[in-house]
Amino acid sequence: MEFTTDIFKQFDKKWALLTAGNKDSFNTMTISWGGLGTIWNKPVATVYVRTSRYTHDFMDREEYFTISFYPEDAKQVLGVLGSKSGRDMDKMKDSGLTPKELAQSMSFEEAEITLVCRKLFRQQLSIENIPEDIADSLYSNDAPHDMYIGEVVDVIRK
Ligand SMILES: Cc1cc2nc3c(=O)[nH]c(=O)nc-3n(C[C@H](O)[C@H](O)[C@H](O)COP(=O)(O)O)c2cc1C
Repeated sequence: MEFTTDIFKQFDKKWALLTAGNKDSFNTMTISWGGLGTIWNKPVATVYVRTSRYTHDFMDREEYFTISFYPEDAKQVLGVLGSKSGRDMDKMKDSGLTPKELAQSMSFEEAEITLVCRKLFRQQLSIENIPEDIADSLYSNDAPHDMYIGEVVDVIRK
């Protein structure tokens, strides 16, 4: 299992899709906050999901989630999946992406790389522990983020 990247660009500039569920019921959304690292002697990915996202329901329900990265020409699709909710639209029908069933979760055929993650931990980021300038700009009118840490159990390449 190997994944070499410039981690400060991988999420922030490339963006990714965070997906949870199975072929009969799943949801996906665009993310640009995240990290890769190590905890509890395991390779992990960390993502941050506002509690208001439809994807949040799936993240809570499921034991696995995937983080998938795409070529530059998918940026427009990622923009749509990051601005419309699966509660209000059939994301799959309208996105043009092709769902791909994995042993434990879902990804998309178009993904260059998919990280398959086993959920290890979830905790809400307490507003009182966040510097005031950040709390004011990001949380005064919007739901808090839950942090999810997942063990990276597989790296799937196209
Ligand atoms: C570039 C980009 C990055 C985003 N990153 C995040 C993120 O890291 N965490 C988050 O909660 N929402 C993030 N969003 C917002 C969600 O993708 C967006 O609210 C989406 O419509 C949620 O869909 P859902 O309700 O179907 O889950 C991002 C949106 C964009 C366009």
